[in-house]
Amino acid sequence: MPLVSMTELLKHAKREKFAIGQFNMNNLEFTKAIMEAAEEERAPFIFGVSEGAMKYMGIDYVVAMAKAAAEKSSIPVVLHLDHGSSFEVAMKCIRAGFTSVMFDGSHHPFEENVRITKEVVRVAHAMGVSVEGELGTIGGVEDDLAVDEENANIAKPEEAIRFYEETKVDALAIAVGTAHGMYKGEPNIRFHIIEEVASKIDAPIVLHGGSGVPDESIRRAIQAGVGKINVNTENQIAMTETIKKVFAEKPEVYDPRKYLGPAKDAMKEVVRGKMRLFGSNGKA
Ligand code: 13P
Repeated sequence: MPLVSMTELLKHAKREKFAIGQFNMNNLEFTKAIMEAAEEERAPFIFGVSEGAMKYMGIDYVVAMAKAAAEKSSIPVVLHLDHGSSFEVAMKCIRAGFTSVMFDGSHHPFEENVRITKEVVRVAHAMGVSVEGELGTIGGVEDDLAVDEENANIAKPEEAIRFYEETKVDALAIAVGTAHGMYKGEPNIRFHIIEEVASKIDAPIVLHGGSGVPDESIRRAIQAGVGKINVNTENQIAMTETIKKVFAEKPEVYDPRKYLGPAKDAMKEVVRGKMRLFGSNGKA
């Protein structure tokens, strides 16, 4: 089927208390690993594309790969801009064929974040495109952007609720103690903040930094009101570790298909595991 927006999927997830996985797409092998996992698990999902990944692949290749994956399948697939940094980049993605965009205005003062997010929502909704907003800063490293734990400020529930009421985003990312990249210890997730905000707004909460979060915490977060979970680092690790293993065993290999193929298969298993953990399997 054609690419879809997140709107219906998120409503379904909120109603039945499961989470839709956002798996970041970084190249053809990521695209295929995620799509094959979704087919096997019958799980709707979101392809997340950061601005860095878009620069690496080229926006036209991104849209073409996502469309090729979605169109020969009956699984609902979303193509979503991850952490869009401006109104302009969100518009560029919508024009190119994205069905969902995130505007991350968390580094702006609250009123400015609301103002730009509202503008993105106004245009995106008129085009049938869903929008994710962000409040509070999520720690860790993504692309070349590093936010240390000290500066990662936890979202304030009353601000998050007001942000939702003013912007009417379809999904709301709030900083609750997770971070991009792998954790050194266990993340200190503020479940009470998720619960408080989720119980007062219609949209589900988005949990960024899903890699390395213990399974039990993921289940608790979903029960508290998380309806979308982002995963990238664990997939990158699965792919890279497999490539290293192939070279350790067969240093003479030169055909990229001989190491990228097994790497894609290893990543597919990680994605399948996440889909089951999030409860999105069998929901397509
Ligand atoms: P991880 O780095 O924990 O996989 O998080 C990815 C993410 O949140 C993308 O927005």
